[in-house]
Amino acid sequence: MGDLRVLLIGNGGREHALAWKLSQSPRVELIYAVPGNGGTATCPKVTNVASVAADDYPGLVAFAEGNGVNLVVPGPEAPLVDGVEGFFRKAGIPCFGPSKEAARLEGSKTYSKDFMNKYSIPTAAYQNFSDYTQAVAYVESVKHDIVIKATGLAAGKGVILPQTKEEAKDALKQIMVDRAFGDAGGEVVIEELLLGDELSVLTFCDGYTFKSLPLAQDHKRIFDGDQGPNTGGMGCYAPTNIATKELTDKIDKEILEPTISGMRRERQPFRGVLFTGLMITSSGPKVLEYNVRFGDPETQTVLPLLSADTDLADIMLACAEGYLDDCYLKVENKFSATVVLAAAGYPGSYAKGTPMKVRDPQAGSTIFHAGTKVEDSQLKTSGGRVIAINSVGDSLKAAVDAAYAALSSGVIQFDGMFFRKDIAHRAFRSPSKEAMTYAQAGVDIQAGNDFVEKIKKAVASTKRPGADAEIGGFGGEIDLSHCGFPGAPVLVGAIDGVGTKLMIAQTMKKHDTVGIDLVAMNVNDLIVQGATPLMFLDYYGCSKLDLASAASFVEGVADGCRQAGCALVGGETAEMPGMYQGEDYDAAGCAVGAVSPSSRLPKHAAMGEGDVLLGLGSHGVHSNGFSLVRRIVQHAGLEYGSVAPWDASRTVGESLLTPTRIYVKSLSPVLDQIKGLAHITGGGLTENVPRMLPESLAAEIEFGTWEIPPVFGWLKANGNVAPAEMCRTFNAGVGMVIAVEASKADAVARALSESEKVFKIGRLVRRAGGEEGCVIRQLESWV
Ligand code: AMP
Ligand code: GLY
Repeated sequence: MGDLRVLLIGNGGREHALAWKLSQSPRVELIYAVPGNGGTATCPKVTNVASVAADDYPGLVAFAEGNGVNLVVPGPEAPLVDGVEGFFRKAGIPCFGPSKEAARLEGSKTYSKDFMNKYSIPTAAYQNFSDYTQAVAYVESVKHDIVIKATGLAAGKGVILPQTKEEAKDALKQIMVDRAFGDAGGEVVIEELLLGDELSVLTFCDGYTFKSLPLAQDHKRIFDGDQGPNTGGMGCYAPTNIATKELTDKIDKEILEPTISGMRRERQPFRGVLFTGLMITSSGPKVLEYNVRFGDPETQTVLPLLSADTDLADIMLACAEGYLDDCYLKVENKFSATVVLAAAGYPGSYAKGTPMKVRDPQAGSTIFHAGTKVEDSQLKTSGGRVIAINSVGDSLKAAVDAAYAALSSGVIQFDGMFFRKDIAHRAFRSPSKEAMTYAQAGVDIQAGNDFVEKIKKAVASTKRPGADAEIGGFGGEIDLSHCGFPGAPVLVGAIDGVGTKLMIAQTMKKHDTVGIDLVAMNVNDLIVQGATPLMFLDYYGCSKLDLASAASFVEGVADGCRQAGCALVGGETAEMPGMYQGEDYDAAGCAVGAVSPSSRLPKHAAMGEGDVLLGLGSHGVHSNGFSLVRRIVQHAGLEYGSVAPWDASRTVGESLLTPTRIYVKSLSPVLDQIKGLAHITGGGLTENVPRMLPESLAAEIEFGTWEIPPVFGWLKANGNVAPAEMCRTFNAGVGMVIAVEASKADAVARALSESEKVFKIGRLVRRAGGEEGCVIRQLESWV
């Protein structure tokens, strides 16, 4: 006989699932469900209690005391936000859930946003407003897409995703002036719209230790294909295929750990279950919201993944009493899917009291009631989300198929029942369905260009003899002969970083090749100005210096310098505690070279229609476009340690870390025979080739004239990236483009082909005002 008498507060599907799992605990003697539903009514060990209201906290305490209750489990957020935990704490009865103060993580969006800000927990940019005019002014001023949220609880309805500024202003008026959500609209949060996959994670906490359940994905919209209005949740599956070890570790490290320790620092240790709603964006997981209770239908989905010998009652008591580290919690290596059945009309108005027929499903499936009740011994509907079926299987497909098979065999029947037919569709979507772009991956080339426009004035103010202080080229120059050094050459400088390729290096713990990249990015920018790279300086910034990684990185820099024939003359290693996360580091480098004034490239005056464009083969992705690369890799469910689908001899990480080709030594001997060079960096082929051209000329490139390394075919297919987007983001196989007089093209190509792959890729044509600077013909044929 068990030693625990449980009081469970709530009446949804979540509470039925909690009762179901709790009832399997040998420690549980009996469960009082207040008020419970038609499912808890027939659950072993459970008694539905109607004699006390779920929000009568003193009444609940009296009931608990009178019935020997020694574990209280509030299901929904309302009692927790109201402070039910404190009522039971005073009575000395353990309650599984946070204090009223800690429950503000869910109860007040302002509080939770400020909390995340204070503890550097990644979340969307946001601002609070209680003044309607200021909110409208803010909407007018921001460039990003926004989400508007009423800060008080608004039963999940307080979130609006406006498509236009007009819609946004309309919504603000409805919430703040017309009070469509009542007092909850007194204050709004205007948040940045985050794009990506939405996931939820349920985490048991005792204030110190935390243990998470598998990452789940809810389906909030009413109709298939995520169409129609938001609901409380129409289905769910777990674990999700994007929940790689890398991602779960990152969520633990960047989100859960700082949340739990932050709450402790606030002197409001979080005990109970924390529901973290996450958006997995191209720049990593970000918190959409916290809830201080289990999710619905997440609970019905993840509890069935717990092993039979995992004792939920024991875990809950441990959370309340502070010994979770000592608890046994095992998740089976299986998959789980839940399909919710709603009443016709939901989430609008719907009928109640419709008679239902429910049979036991086959083993491996479980029915969880939500809006049901037993009336005159007849099971009837009593809510919008009525009931759900969950199935567990060895694969996600097996789980989903089993749930739908049970439904088609008629285990649940009621008039007007409605359910989504596509639960888990995001896990099954062929990656090619959703086209990815670099902007979606978090990088906006246009914004970068706008920025350059903005700073031009400040830059121009630094003008001095020898330098015209213009920006936008591949690098900067100063003519020393105008600076008091007659006869001296032009000094050319370039500065660059490696970008998010560093994150792959950090994941792979391989730091030398990105050192080469750093040099390559800079010296290739010098050579395109005709300059010979002479010296290099590097900067390495981290929170905590790890000697081995930093040394390996600098060895890579030295390797790159040898390849470019330039001297590594200096550098800076900055250790700045708290500046970066964990072992992350950032790096930048600067190369300086020289060129005689008459040898400067590009030679605009010499360029003309009919000049030939030669392309030099790239060594893969080089150092640009990695935000998109990482997103596609994650989307494809690949680990950096898995075999690269495009190159069986290497892992994904090794292949992606192939360093940027340094073209300096190959190009030096032919510099005097060519007219211009374009290093294909950020902006890809399309945006970089015009950088060497005068306004009057455009590049006409013929697709299919060069070899495309297999990695690009894979990225294109798996991200469903449009061909034009490929060429605007990546080098697509061409790392350097050369403009040369047609009569010299063969000789130059021959000379270069000793060390490079050389392709004749196009020619220069006349460009009229308003025309593109680079046209890639037949690009649509890239399939
Ligand atoms: P919330 O009430 O804050 O949990 O928001 C409800 C839903 O609105 C979330 O589950 C998301 O689907 C969506 N949402 C909320 N905030 C954002 C955001 N910043 N970016 C994108 N979607 C959001
Ligand atoms: N499934 C979303 C929630 O429980 O809030």
